[in-house]
Amino acid sequence: MKRLKISPTELGGLAFAEDQRPAPATNESLVKVSAFSLNRGEIGMAQSPDSAGGNIGWDYVGVIEEPAIDGSGPAKGTRVVGWRPEMDAFAEYVIGDNDYLAAIPDGVSDEIAATLPVAGLTALAAIDKGDRILGRSVLVTGVSGGVGFFALQLAKLSGARVVAQVRKEEDVSFAKGLGADAVVISTNGAGVDSEGKHRLVVDGVGGDFFHHLLATTDKGGTLVSYGVSAGNQASFSPHPDLFGNGGQRRVYGLTLYTETELEPSSVGLKRLLQLVKTKLLRAPKITSASWTEAPRLAADLLSRTFSGKAVLKVEDS
Ligand SMILES: NC(=O)c1ccc[n+]([C@@H]2O[C@H](COP(=O)([O-])OP(=O)(O)OC[C@H]3O[C@@H](n4cnc5c(N)ncnc54)[C@H](OP(=O)(O)O)[C@@H]3O)[C@@H](O)[C@H]2O)c1
Repeated sequence: MKRLKISPTELGGLAFAEDQRPAPATNESLVKVSAFSLNRGEIGMAQSPDSAGGNIGWDYVGVIEEPAIDGSGPAKGTRVVGWRPEMDAFAEYVIGDNDYLAAIPDGVSDEIAATLPVAGLTALAAIDKGDRILGRSVLVTGVSGGVGFFALQLAKLSGARVVAQVRKEEDVSFAKGLGADAVVISTNGAGVDSEGKHRLVVDGVGGDFFHHLLATTDKGGTLVSYGVSAGNQASFSPHPDLFGNGGQRRVYGLTLYTETELEPSSVGLKRLLQLVKTKLLRAPKITSASWTEAPRLAADLLSRTFSGKAVLKVEDS
């Protein structure tokens, strides 16, 4: 079969290679992949010489070709969406691990399902860290990005007043269209406190934003940090940012890899798919292409020349 591998010297850091079909264990299935979406994290990793030659790919959608021998998973022919912590999903076939996949309900397209796993599950885990946010304020940074897009909507669905942070004026109407009650434009974190204090702050931007976000987290509130799009260095003053002004603030470091110890991804995916099916959760704008175009779209993702999600369709070779 064909698969994409990490090749940092080539366009987008990706190159096609031949490989053996994976061999599932008795409690795993073999999935014939029909599509996958790109995430910034994995495409960023594909630029590193240290990763050269490795497999790549978290999110996938496909059809069960060989069900689990022990009968534990979906039946042959079931459409499924999942993700691979092993990072090997950008291929014609992947192993279907029951804890990391869910059947796609009728009415939800492969393309839309493919946008959900890493971005949607990270957003869902972040919102689930909010303690009694109903009727309270939640701040979401980077709402023009993959995770922020879902986090904004999920916070709104949870009954919170949602404040969205964007960098660009043109993203204000986009954020409001997704349900933001207020939008803050900030390129370095200054001004993110203009909408008061927040019970929950969901942050994928980090860098210079971090101390502003901590300071605008309410007494007893939580700052969930899951990404560092603005840089990995942050400084803050424990007083007053953390334990001043009433204190009782928490910082939660979120990584999807270990969130799965708290709730299997299969459960989160079912929750997200149900929200999409019932039209409560919108899918991002999709840029769709054949997976032969994956290197070009990975390069475009890095330079942010398109918004929303790239979904690549895997055709038979
Ligand atoms: N911990 C985990 O398990 C986990 C899971 C998923 C993602 N992540 C990480 O979370 C981050 C976001 O992921 P994503 O897939 O949502 O990425 P994405 O789609 O590229 O979105 C990035 C967001 O950050 C904003 N941004 C980029 N550079 C910025 C800067 N210098 N200053 C302020 N804002 C900036 C972008 O705004 P513009 O549209 O204005 O550029 C966009 O809203 C990445 O660092 C990713 O690796 C972590």
